[in-house]
Amino acid sequence: MKEFDSTLLYKDIYFLPVQDKNIYLGWLSWMNNPKLTKYLDSDTKQYTAEDLKKYLNTDASKAFLACYRVSDDMYLGNLRVHELSSGIFSYGILIGEKFQGLGYGTKLCKVAVNLVFKRFNGDLVVASSKIENQAPSAYKTNIGFCIADTIFAAKWNLKKYFKNFPRDPIFYMDKLIFSKIKSKL
Ligand SMILES: CC(C)(COP(=O)(O)OP(=O)(O)OC[C@H]1O[C@@H](n2cnc3c(N)ncnc32)[C@H](O)[C@@H]1OP(=O)(O)O)[C@@H](O)C(=O)NCCC(=O)NCCS
Repeated sequence: MKEFDSTLLYKDIYFLPVQDKNIYLGWLSWMNNPKLTKYLDSDTKQYTAEDLKKYLNTDASKAFLACYRVSDDMYLGNLRVHELSSGIFSYGILIGEKFQGLGYGTKLCKVAVNLVFKRFNGDLVVASSKIENQAPSAYKTNIGFCIADTIFAAKWNLKKYFKNFPRDPIFYMDKLIFSKIKSKL
């Protein structure tokens, strides 16, 4: 990934392109940890190192970065930024279990937004999260994302989450779609 020949630094995190070694440092165990993958769109299958190597070799992301803590070089997660169509980007975050709830998700989301608007000159960031996955919804709203849309799927009964939801309860919502435009940065 040409853009990331040099190390990128944000606060107490530094970023390097994901390499084969990251598979064994944590990525493989994260992908096989149901607690971490339950809200992801990826398959729920058991991953092998070969699966992830193949993924890495065919990855067409604008950035696929391994995130390390500056203080002790611990590998804490992955950040992926990809272009959906011209100027419109999305991103994905995966953080190891013992590094969750420490504010890294919020920081990685800020880095994703900055990469899109400043480095890749994008106009819009769109990202979705499952309605029951509260942390990503919280940090997206904290840093200025708006709820742009919802995806309905026969999975979650909205009345369970919103007492006064006005629709017929046969409608179910699976995901919230968030967006952030460049001028709001
Ligand atoms: C989702 C994920 C990226 C969040 O990262 P994180 O580092 O744990 O999140 P943060 O510590 O930055 O917390 C972000 C906000 O969510 C809140 N939060 C964290 N866990 C929460 C929970 N279980 N329930 C409700 N709110 C929660 C935090 O309080 C914080 O809000 P605040 O700043 O207003 O206090 C991380 O848990 C992860 O990688 N999960 C597995 C993969 C995944 O689900 N990725 C996202 C797919 S959309």
